[in-house]
Parts: sequence; structure tokens; C-alpha cells
Amino acid sequence: MNLILMGPPGAGKGTQARRIAERYNIPQLSTGDMLRAAVKAGTSVGLRAKAAMESGGLVTDDIVVGIIADRIGEADCAHGFILDGFPRTVAQATALDGMLTERGLKIDHVIDITADTEALVTRITGRSTCSLCGEGYHAVYKKPAVAGECDKCDGTLTTRADDNEETVRNRLTVYHQQTAPVIEHYRNGGKFKTIDGMEAMDSVFEKLCAILG
Ligand code: AP5
Repeated sequence: MNLILMGPPGAGKGTQARRIAERYNIPQLSTGDMLRAAVKAGTSVGLRAKAAMESGGLVTDDIVVGIIADRIGEADCAHGFILDGFPRTVAQATALDGMLTERGLKIDHVIDITADTEALVTRITGRSTCSLCGEGYHAVYKKPAVAGECDKCDGTLTTRADDNEETVRNRLTVYHQQTAPVIEHYRNGGKFKTIDGMEAMDSVFEKLCAILG
């Protein structure tokens, strides 16, 4: 099963992708996570991506297309994958079509998670993530049992450099300008579905599973 999870920043793509990965035993391919790892490691990709990420803009198409082209060729993607945060421009969607055709693959579901703008800002500015296992938390909606510590492992919770209000609002503007048009790329293919991301996390997950089967 090859799946694309779409939605604005904070809609819950990462939260739900991790759950789907666990339930269906297929990897979550988050371009945001991969780029953050590259920035942290100081690789050439990381150095090229850093400024765009910190301002809330998009990293260039050639970088992210290259990352995904390499990643979907890895062994753990043989039985499927979840694209989380890719494609984010029409050019990326077109490049993805090409790489899938080349490999004899197809996308089975494109699911767009929607949410209200002000809720997105509240969600993102309250978010923290485990530095070891990547589990996501929220200051109001999903508090850890012990402040600053992951419930699942011994990791410390960290916040992202781009999760301040000013950058979040810029990310939302960029989403509406450059990523929302990608929906039209998929809308008429018969595989596109929308889920209301304003519902509770468990309810969103149930609806996703009902679509995935
Ligand atoms: P990326 O890491 O992809 O960030 P994003 O798209 O802005 O999405 P987020 O991770 O902020 O939100 P999410 O939808 O995953 O929400 P989450 O589940 O965490 O990208 C970061 C940057 O990298 C980009 O700005 C860009 O620079 C670059 N980049 C990445 N991909 C790129 C690409 N393809 N092309 C170019 N550049 C690229 O949830 C958010 C919070 O809300 C959490 O605290 C969670 O606990 C909470 N929450 C989740 N669901 C619910 C719910 N139902 N109810 C209440 N709270 C909820």
C-alpha cells in the first residue's frame, strides 16, 4: 500500500503517519524529518535546506525529489510507504508520477487532512517531540506524564526551530500558495479523500483506517 498524507502544517500528518506505520507495518517517509536530520548532521543537503526551513519556506524541488527517489528504492519500502509532507508542489507531484511509473508502482490513496487555521497555529506552537523515538506531544492535547520526558522511552522532548508563531504563519501562507494546488493534481484520480483533522486524534485515526482497510 502506497499512501500520500496531505494537509497544512499541524493538521496531524506526522501524528497519523506514525500510527499508520505501526498498524500496517510500512515506513513513514517524512521529508521534514529527513531534512531536519540532514541539517543536524550538517550534510550538504542540510546546509542547502537550513535557511528555507528556518524561514518557513520550501526547500527546492530538486533536493526533496532526490531524497524521495533514493528513499523509495530502499528495501523497507518494498511492501509500501507513507509519504508525509511530499509532494508539496505540483512539480514534486509530477516528478513523483515519473519515478513511480519508472518503478512500476502506483499510489493507492491520497488523503488530505484538513483543519482550521487558528487551531493549526495553536497546535504547532504547543508541540514537542521526543528526541529519541520521534513521538509527538502537545502542551494541551497530548501532555507527557512527566513534563519534558517521553512516555514511550527515556528521550527528552524538544521543540522545532520553525515552530514559533511568525514562522508558522509563513508556513501556512506557503501551504496555500504552493501546496494546496497539489490537491487538484490528485482530486480526480478516484483515490483522493478528505478527513476532518479537527476531530480527536483517535477519531481521525479510525477514519483513516476505515479508508485504508
Ligand atoms: P514538515 O516537517 O513536513 O512540517 P509541516 O508540513 O509544516 O507539518 P508539521 O510537521 O508541522 O505538522 P503535521 O501535519 O505533521 O502535524 P503533527 O502531527 O506534528 O516540514 C518542515 C519544513 O521542511 C517545511 O516548512 C519545509 O521548509 C521543509 N520541507 C519538508 N518537506 C518538503 C517538501 N516536500 N518540499 C519542500 N520543502 C519541504 O501535529 C501537530 C501538533 O498537533 C502536535 O503537537 C500533535 O500532538 C497535535 N495534534 C495532531 N493531531 C491532533 C488532533 N486531531 N487534535 C489535537 N491535536 C492534534
